Amino acid sequence: MAYFWVKSLHLLFVVAWLASVFYLPRILLNINECAGQPTVQERLVLMGKRLYRFGHVMFGFAFIFGVTLWLHFGMKGGWLHAKLLLVALLFAYFIATGVMLKKSAVGDKLMSTTALRWYNELPILLALGAIYLVIAKPF
Ligand code: HEM
Repeated sequence: MAYFWVKSLHLLFVVAWLASVFYLPRILLNINECAGQPTVQERLVLMGKRLYRFGHVMFGFAFIFGVTLWLHFGMKGGWLHAKLLLVALLFAYFIATGVMLKKSAVGDKLMSTTALRWYNELPILLALGAIYLVIAKPF
């Protein structure tokens, strides 16, 4: 019974964290498209900082329940190591996006809108890989 509650909570916080991972780069895209409108950009930066903080809290809880599934319920296998590698890349992506947001807040130029659109798609591929590995457990 506890296993299913821990896994449900793990997935709840994973979904909340992924929502912030997917949405934060879109705020950067909007900041880029609002060049010359400082008040709009300020509002977007504020939204981004709040989303970034929220994302870190959600990741913390997803991690605690994930490690509980791993160590307390004895999940193991190559799939878990490969999944955690993709999760680490997703986390690095989230940190890099946060650094870009903070740089744009002090007036640094962001990458081009086209580059940002491609950058936006990266976490979808990483998340799909992590979800497939944990559900199919192929190795
Ligand atoms: C933060 C570090 C994470 C750790 C340590 C972790 C660890 C785990 C473990 C041990 C399980 C149990 C597997 C089972 O019961 O069959 C699990 C389930 C799951 N995890 Fe994670 N996970 C983490 C992050 C994530 C992320 C970021 C995603 C999505 C991209 C994710 C998606 C899932 C899914 C979908 C399940 C349910 C699999 C099933 O029911 O078969 N996890 N996780």
